[in-house]
Amino acid sequence: MKQKIMSGMRPTGKLHLGHYLGVIDNWVKLQDEYDCYFSVADWHALTTKYDKTETLRQDTIDIVTDWLACGIDPNKSTIYVQSLVPETAELHIYLSMITPQNWVERDPTLKDMAKILKSKEGMGMQVNYGLMGYPVLMTADILTFNADLVPVGIDQVAHVELTRDIVRRFNNIYNTDFFVEPQPKLNECSLICGLDGNKMGKSFHNDIKISDSAEVTAKKVMTAITDRSRIKKDDIGHPDECEVAFKYWKIFGDENEVETVAEECKCAKRGCADCKRQLGAKINERMKEIREKRTYYEQHPELVEKIIKEGSEKARIEAQKVLKKVRELVRMY
Ligand code: TRP
Ligand code: SF4
Repeated sequence: MKQKIMSGMRPTGKLHLGHYLGVIDNWVKLQDEYDCYFSVADWHALTTKYDKTETLRQDTIDIVTDWLACGIDPNKSTIYVQSLVPETAELHIYLSMITPQNWVERDPTLKDMAKILKSKEGMGMQVNYGLMGYPVLMTADILTFNADLVPVGIDQVAHVELTRDIVRRFNNIYNTDFFVEPQPKLNECSLICGLDGNKMGKSFHNDIKISDSAEVTAKKVMTAITDRSRIKKDDIGHPDECEVAFKYWKIFGDENEVETVAEECKCAKRGCADCKRQLGAKINERMKEIREKRTYYEQHPELVEKIIKEGSEKARIEAQKVLKKVRELVRMY
């Protein structure tokens, strides 16, 4: 039997190249070898955005459209929406009962989230009860399928460690070995920075979206930071100090291309504008198929909806098996 993989993302709007290269492309590669469950974590979105739900439905459709475009295949993997699998909420309750409060309080990612919210207290933000349960809810996601592996970024590893602690405690209290201790599987990511050299993020306005057209992508690439010491076209360039454009070349170009770019840059044979025009074309080449697929799904929202519904039903069937066992173990009526 194949090992099981579970991972998820909060629906926070259209995804960018950082998500594609850092997360989704990894998921795509895991689909053949593992039995994969990928969740749109809409309850997790509510932990901080409970009062901004107008876009939640569209954000969910958008994120699934991005996944499909990038190559997540509903015939191989189960794509579902967290809130369409209520078994996870029930499991969250059982897990909440056995998780010591100080375990969640010491979770570093949660601490960071709480700190940000507290700094906005004046703006009506606060830490609610539900947010404290964030890592327990994530544990419930993972255990809903009794997953073996959880592909995540480094910032989520602490949550998975907590999941392992909760599994040990559950198994111990209910005298069972039913739940497996899941392992975090670090994304092998080619970390792509934003156009300004900082972390790529939608709120920083330095991202390239998967859904951006070829024209928009090319235009954005023209704004990428280069070697700041290079002012005139015949100044020699320093690829290693080219803060963004050359880094992108290393991600999107092949070895020969990268070498040519570096050499021509160093002897001022290549200007930055030309260099970035070529780079834009290169990125567009890589994104072409994804973009075509995305357009197709965008024009067939009923298909995306069908995939979400069917995936969620499939997920529920598995979830019900796990919950039946859990209810027995906890000795519920
Ligand atoms: N907390 C994760 C994040 O913010 C998203 C997530 C929700 C998740 N449920 C999950 C990740 C289960 C892995 C497994 O990125
Ligand atoms: Fe960067 Fe290309 Fe300009 Fe060299 S020519 S500094 S690699 S953008």
